Amino acid sequence: MNHFQYKGNELFAEDVSLKDIVAKVGTPVYVYSHATLTRHFRAFDDAFNGAPHTICYSVKANSTQSVLKTFINLGGGVDIVSGGELFRALKAGVDPQKVVYSGVGKKDDEIEYALNTGILMFNVESEQELTRISEIASRLGKKAGIAIRVNPDVDPGTHPYITTGLKNAKFGITIDRAMEEYGRAKTLPGIDVIGIDMHIGSQLTKVNPFVDSIEKLKVMIGKLREQGIDLKYFDCGGGLGIQYNAEEPPLPADYGQKVVAATKDLGMHLVFEPGRNLVGNAGILVAKTLYTKARDEKNFIMIDAGMNDLARPALYDSYHGVQAVTRDQDGMIVADIVGPICESGDFLVKGREVPMFKQDDLVAFMSAGAYGFAMSSSYNSRPRVAEVMVKGDKFEVVRERETVEELIKGERVASFL
Ligand code: LLP
Repeated sequence: MNHFQYKGNELFAEDVSLKDIVAKVGTPVYVYSHATLTRHFRAFDDAFNGAPHTICYSVKANSTQSVLKTFINLGGGVDIVSGGELFRALKAGVDPQKVVYSGVGKKDDEIEYALNTGILMFNVESEQELTRISEIASRLGKKAGIAIRVNPDVDPGTHPYITTGLKNAKFGITIDRAMEEYGRAKTLPGIDVIGIDMHIGSQLTKVNPFVDSIEKLKVMIGKLREQGIDLKYFDCGGGLGIQYNAEEPPLPADYGQKVVAATKDLGMHLVFEPGRNLVGNAGILVAKTLYTKARDEKNFIMIDAGMNDLARPALYDSYHGVQAVTRDQDGMIVADIVGPICESGDFLVKGREVPMFKQDDLVAFMSAGAYGFAMSSSYNSRPRVAEVMVKGDKFEVVRERETVEELIKGERVASFL
């Protein structure tokens, strides 16, 4: 359920017409619905009612501060993977004790920054990382709360690029090695062993892989208890999918019920790192048709947004629904919707039936709130687009459109030229 709906022939974000937003802000523009963000957070949170838990929103999905602030206001924490994400989340007002730090490549300065901030825990992804965190914490006279990210070797049945919990993936530590590392972690001076962590992939449309992984970690938790290592936090990661097209992902309530059933005997505090589930359907990208052309039975609709603005179709061949902002087209047409970038991979839609867009029509790409703006770049020296948040009948620009001056900020021509 989202709040992008037609009123008559005009597509609205909550009570604001997208046409009005474009008239003020131009195109391309990402538009987020505050009501949808709130609704999705609450649905996820309610799914764990009664079980002690913290929702640490995965910042990488959409790191815009107004999005972070929306979840922080609802009691959320964050899952970060870099010092930059920590900086953003702190700026947005996150409680450091609700920050978990994941990622296979934490740098010394990032570890130090997180320790000085007093985050809840590091999700440790390698043996060497554990040693390094202990060294840095000891030097600072601190103890780092840690969980080991266990790679449970479970197939989540999703796109290979976003599968992370199989043995051959770079993520986490295998079960056997993790058991040894827990023993070692106990002896390290800068480490406080407080949790266990998993994240098996993204856009999962079944609950079973989550439950299978939890079962594997439960066996570990039991053995660790026998060794006197009692963990408080069980971080189940993120990954719950959303509907882009015809997928039928479980509702957060179904997921919650099965996860709670699988973990309730443990008496642990659950942590979740949802990204896409909270923001995916809360955002759209609005672009404008520049030109159309037909060639050998093939139709192209050229728009002013490209793979640099929304990379997912080019990267993963992923599907984003297409809607006309004003429904006044003369029927439908099978077409490619393509961007201005000089690459054949620069498409947002391939060979799909879409409204017969004319020049200057506005096109909305749905379900673009997750990994949309966050993965955008200025490739082809295209300034990154503006972002707008809508709440009821109000809207505000929450990120200005980048300028060409900003594109060359920090760049200088070498003095020997
Ligand atoms: N926790 C960890 C450790 C992660 O690596 C991720 C996502 C998440 C949580 C959040 O996963 P989510 O709930 O959003 O599925 N760019 C890709 C998705 C990459 C996911 C990376 N990790 C896409 O556009 O589909």
